[in-house]
Amino acid sequence: MPNRNKPIIAIDGPAGSGKSTIARLTADRLGFIYINTGAMYRALAWKLLKENISLNDKNRIVMIARSVDIQLGRENKSTKYFVDGVDVSRKLFTPAVGKSASLISKMREVREIMVEKQRHTGFKGGFVLEGRDIGTVVFSDAEYKFFLDASVDERACRRYKELKEKGENVNLGKLCEEIKLRDREDFTREHSPLKKADDAIYMDTTGMSINEVLKMILGYIKTKARDL
Ligand code: DC
Repeated sequence: MPNRNKPIIAIDGPAGSGKSTIARLTADRLGFIYINTGAMYRALAWKLLKENISLNDKNRIVMIARSVDIQLGRENKSTKYFVDGVDVSRKLFTPAVGKSASLISKMREVREIMVEKQRHTGFKGGFVLEGRDIGTVVFSDAEYKFFLDASVDERACRRYKELKEKGENVNLGKLCEEIKLRDREDFTREHSPLKKADDAIYMDTTGMSINEVLKMILGYIKTKARDL
């Protein structure tokens, strides 16, 4: 094991693949800390939108990425996100913030700053990190790597249900188009495109329940832990 006390579990995959739910539940079961790296890009995007900063103004974006204080915490079993001390947990997961997060995540300098923050947080181990580049870049030496996938239709339906439950007014067809666009951007961007790490376990979760996916992941970790 690399120089850490506990392992790192990396969960990557495209938008709506169930990474967040599965990563959170896996962390809870193992008593690990859950880090949603997409939320970190969203937190930065939220700040830029709030301050009316043009997403073309790369210099200012990089400056803000360096100075912004992004904190994650847990409260009553839910994850809380703070930007410069302000609780933004209910503001990050809107389509507008997601779209801006996707745009700024293409910038190499922004990625370098975020990767550094993520490594700094997780270096001691005992973390489940989810995102797009955890197993390939952030912790390419993670002990456990999973790549979660599902069909576009299923991912759009999952997002639809999630947003509906939050009381948002959403359209399934539009969500489907947004997911396709996000896939195109995430898979084809120049810096750290979304891709499965060679040593990650690929899981097509189409038609699987959350419990089934969780059971497979925990089962795999238990089996491998015995071999370590
Ligand atoms: O997982 P998410 O949809 O909340 O992520 C928002 C955007 O952030 C996504 O379009 C791509 C980007 N992202 C990234 O580039 N690298 C990560 N590790 C996590 C997210």
